[in-house]
Amino acid sequence: MGEDRLEIVGPQRICGELLVQGSKNAALPMLAAMLLAEGVYILHHCPQITDVDHMLELLTDAGCRAHQEGHMLIVDTRGADRCRLEGSGAGKMRAGVTLLGSMLGRMREAELPYPGGCTIGKRPIDLHIQALGQLGVRFEHREHSLYAYADQLRGADITLDFPSVGATENVLLAAALAEGRTLLHGAAQEPEIVALSGFLRKMGAHIEGAGTPVIRVEGVERLHAAEYIVPSDRIVAGTYLLGAVMTGGELRLLHVPTAHLGILPRILTELGAEVSLKEERNEIAVKMERKVRAIPYLATAPFPDFPTDLQSALMAALSLASGPSFLEEKIFEARFQIVPELRKMGARIYEEDSLAVIEGDARLHGAQVCARELRGGAALIMAALTAEGRSEIRGMDFVKRGYEDIQGD
Ligand code: EPZ
Repeated sequence: MGEDRLEIVGPQRICGELLVQGSKNAALPMLAAMLLAEGVYILHHCPQITDVDHMLELLTDAGCRAHQEGHMLIVDTRGADRCRLEGSGAGKMRAGVTLLGSMLGRMREAELPYPGGCTIGKRPIDLHIQALGQLGVRFEHREHSLYAYADQLRGADITLDFPSVGATENVLLAAALAEGRTLLHGAAQEPEIVALSGFLRKMGAHIEGAGTPVIRVEGVERLHAAEYIVPSDRIVAGTYLLGAVMTGGELRLLHVPTAHLGILPRILTELGAEVSLKEERNEIAVKMERKVRAIPYLATAPFPDFPTDLQSALMAALSLASGPSFLEEKIFEARFQIVPELRKMGARIYEEDSLAVIEGDARLHGAQVCARELRGGAALIMAALTAEGRSEIRGMDFVKRGYEDIQGD
């Protein structure tokens, strides 16, 4: 098939053992953090995905040199002195917004194209602006970009009205080199925040409390380069586990910190899977030998509850269930793009505002479907593996943003 298309003839069962790739949403803010100090950084277990490529384009725009050898990434930030990025990458990718925090942290100035919204919602950055403003940052809204500057970054007592992952990351990045103490209340608790905090501490930052709603940062004079291992991607892991459940397969995932999966293991059990967790070995395995069970009602929520990034994959699984399920999307305002595509495959789903009713008892059949965003695209691949007959999935470029070699060539 063409680059942007994938053909699948189902049904196929997902069976086997897999070492899970590095986390996209942990690696991206770590790349942004590298602008906080000059030096040579090494990231291990870094996923080979296009969002990482885009972020490296931005770092190169800022004056860095980067080189990826397999899953090892080497970034030299010596000479990175640019703080105005007009590269298209920033507009293409939400994660570019964390460059605000690191550029302000070291250069007290930053100009970025407005981060692109995407099909899952308008993706505002008001919480970022509000929080950074309390550290002394001033903003100028220019025609196509946001210009930010600070005479001095001073630690502050900040409260986020919503535990925004990106806003939490931007505060950590800017506060690390601010003068004095910053207390962030209402912080996001996702594992990616803990990973970023670990990386920053390795760089010499003084951060306590990551993973809890209150994070304390003691600003320091300077930071230094570091070497770090990117944790495995909990969303990629969850996608494949739900795929194994849908296809009646048997899957063992290695190198997955089971604590990062939140309530997912419980949800897999509720779907009817046999789940075995080996926390001490960072392993999880599922086996599915029965029809998928419906889940009467589930809402997406911040960690450790059910992640919005797995909502599409769960919807695909529930389309097979015996009986109706209700899914409520409470994080993004437009994250049901997959519904019309699953209906083409025979799913019976009705959506209204933030609620989707999945009637269940569908026998999925192959169809021509189109991914419109990353996680929905991955869910369509799981559905095509389950379906009887040939499917063609267009929009694979979205999937390649976050899934390394999903077809396992
Ligand atoms: C991160 O996005 C992830 N992206 C998303 O994953 C993930 O879905 C999301 O966190 C929630 O877990 C990366 O880490 C690169 P938020 P982020 O700020 O930081 C609203 C994927 O598929 N909001 O926690 O943008 C926002 O519109 C991606 O890997 C404001 O209103 O998420 C959304 O409705 C998709 N104002 C909600 O909060 C703000 O200033 C959650 O956003 C910021 C956010």
